[in-house]
Amino acid sequence: MGTEALFAPLQVGRFELAHRVVLPPLTRMRAQQPGDVPGELNAEYYAQRATPGGLLIAEATQISPSGQGLPGTPGIYSDEQVAGWRLVTDAVHAQGGLIFLQLWHMGRQSHSSFQPDGLPPFAPSAIPRESTAVTAIGESVPSETPRALTVEQISEIIATYGRVARNAIEAAFGGVEVHAANGYLIDQFLNESTDQRADRYGGSIENRVRFLVEVTSAVIDAVDADRVGVRLSPLGGAGEVHDSNTKELYGHAIRALAPLHPAYLHLIEPRRCGARNDDIDPDAVSAVRLYRQLWSGALIAAGGFTPETGAEIVVEGAADAVAYGRAFTSTPDLVTRIQHGTAWTPWHRPTFYTSGPVGYTDFPRVND
Ligand SMILES: Cc1cc2nc3c(=O)[nH]c(=O)nc-3n(C[C@H](O)[C@H](O)[C@H](O)COP(=O)(O)O)c2cc1C
Repeated sequence: MGTEALFAPLQVGRFELAHRVVLPPLTRMRAQQPGDVPGELNAEYYAQRATPGGLLIAEATQISPSGQGLPGTPGIYSDEQVAGWRLVTDAVHAQGGLIFLQLWHMGRQSHSSFQPDGLPPFAPSAIPRESTAVTAIGESVPSETPRALTVEQISEIIATYGRVARNAIEAAFGGVEVHAANGYLIDQFLNESTDQRADRYGGSIENRVRFLVEVTSAVIDAVDADRVGVRLSPLGGAGEVHDSNTKELYGHAIRALAPLHPAYLHLIEPRRCGARNDDIDPDAVSAVRLYRQLWSGALIAAGGFTPETGAEIVVEGAADAVAYGRAFTSTPDLVTRIQHGTAWTPWHRPTFYTSGPVGYTDFPRVND
């Protein structure tokens, strides 16, 4: 099969995309210090990946200092960060591209060294994860037992999502994506392994989905549904979250989001959930095939796609657009390469989380 299906236009919320090849959010830990502020280097990186009418989703961006858990990731809560992001959005718009920002709170995957009060990070329940945490100076240390959020603190976080969504629009992003995937705070509320609360945010599936719905509603109230996307990683157990009823859990979450009519739903295939899993499990269930019937709006699929399998999933109708993660890290002009059938260089893991331009903005482009 050819790849023509990826080059048909698509309506996503208030935007008409010229094609269906999407840059998914990719953490690269290259914000300027102090202050976790995006700068010219980040603007160059995103501009390299922009195409007329193409959708880029900028990397996971903390909504507050407390939501951070890796050094060098950008924020969207300070005036300096808003001004820094403006460099990025201007550079993308100059190429005719569209860019959304992914809003992120790491919950228990953070560490006390990031917390303004120096105490352990926050989570739905006081349950630590097994794998190590990273400190503010980049050391790998045992994970801490998180502090269970109070209901008042939950309300504050929900309000913060709305506030920073407005910051993103002020920074001229087309919209925002709620990061509810990969075992971070919202996913920690969804799954029973990390949410053992006895109040209205824990227990039944309905209660565990509540935080996702309230965050998404707050963001929609702040910036309008037609510029809000939501990302989930169903069935994969990414980020050490688990549920005994995982198919129903994510089905319920998708059904609960549908009446809010966000611009799109973005699903990571369980065959490749999470940034650190480089393997592809060919026998894994396809999340987009499983849940498509529950979602009538735009649906973006991510996780292990090639040009051909991406075009196939679009032709089949199980997804409307396809996000290519690793491929886009080292091939800035991926869209051109897919369209022209040009080979691409393989992704380059050693530079995912380093600093500076090497392995970030120094990859060659093909001539059109
Ligand atoms: C270096 C790297 C960083 C990532 N950072 C994020 C992130 O910030 N937010 C997110 O939702 N997913 C993140 N992911 C997951 C990707 O968005 C994507 O879902 C994943 O790479 C699967 O697609 P692929 O098989 O085409 O690489 C990251 C993946 C990689 C490789």
